[in-house]
Amino acid sequence: MQALDELIGHVEAAIAAAGDERDLEQVRVAYFGKKGEVTALLKGLGQLPDDQRRAAGQAINQARDRLQTQLEARRLALSAAQLDSRIAAETIDVTLPGRRSGQGGLHPHTQTMQRIETIFRNAGYGVATGPEVETEYYNFEALNIPAHHPARAMHDTFYLEGGERLLRTHTSPVQARVMENSEPPIRIICPGKVYRVDSDMTHTPMFHQVEGLVVDRDISFSDLKGTVIDFLRVFFEAELAVRFRPSYFPFTEPSAEVDVECVHCRGEGCRVCSQSGWLEVMGCGMVHPRVLEMSGIDAETYTGFAFGFGVDRLSMLYYSVDDLRLFYENDLRFLAQFR
Ligand code: PHE
Repeated sequence: MQALDELIGHVEAAIAAAGDERDLEQVRVAYFGKKGEVTALLKGLGQLPDDQRRAAGQAINQARDRLQTQLEARRLALSAAQLDSRIAAETIDVTLPGRRSGQGGLHPHTQTMQRIETIFRNAGYGVATGPEVETEYYNFEALNIPAHHPARAMHDTFYLEGGERLLRTHTSPVQARVMENSEPPIRIICPGKVYRVDSDMTHTPMFHQVEGLVVDRDISFSDLKGTVIDFLRVFFEAELAVRFRPSYFPFTEPSAEVDVECVHCRGEGCRVCSQSGWLEVMGCGMVHPRVLEMSGIDAETYTGFAFGFGVDRLSMLYYSVDDLRLFYENDLRFLAQFR
């Protein structure tokens, strides 16, 4: 009986000392397993004299049941504690700042192109497009630039293998295609990519143009002037002075080049306008009667005007960027400013 009391003390201490379920399992095996000490005590009952056996058996069985209940209670407590600590470790801190994903945006040229399209759509123009790989006919001949015409040299053309096809040097071939396929009244702009053998601070081999074309009865140079002046003021969001200088294009007659008051210095003279106070922004003129006739439009009945400009240049001026190449380097630090 004394041995039993001591043993109970050891078992209770061992249960209390178990730090986790594995420790506790070791305690169970050590005392209650097949070769455990409590089991051994029960097995030893047979050697006791008859008069003691009954009382001893009762005492040992009671002690065993009580200890096993304690063991089970401890197991539950340990597993609950373990669960608690696991949950605590898994807690999501909803106050932590989230990881941001990068936000994309439209390229500044795309934005400029879209603004230009909106301005002209609002004025009743349609939008026409054509192929970037063109034939000599549409890029030159239909625009009154026959072979050996000196204007061809100015276009620094990329020819494709075989020399029959080329990368269009302007969007004007679209005007020839549209006139061939439709009847006046025509009122369109042709936005798109064009190509020239050229590369420096203000020229890239690929750039963007928008060409405008209006053909109808009684279209005059004053219609052209009004359209161009209105467009430039809406585009630059300012009442800028605009001037027309006589110029030459094979497909328009008369032809003019358009200057707008420098958007930086407002005509004072600065680096951007080379101290002149003016920026050259587009070419224009009355569609040459030969061009109308070649596209199957009666030049006795109809007249028209056309204008064309570089979108990249307008973008540079509008956003005050002085090196055109920045637009094409895909540096996000540059592009992110236009979101
Ligand atoms: N196509 C001319 C160019 O690329 C621009 C232009 C278009 C001029 C229409 C007059 C009329 O230089």
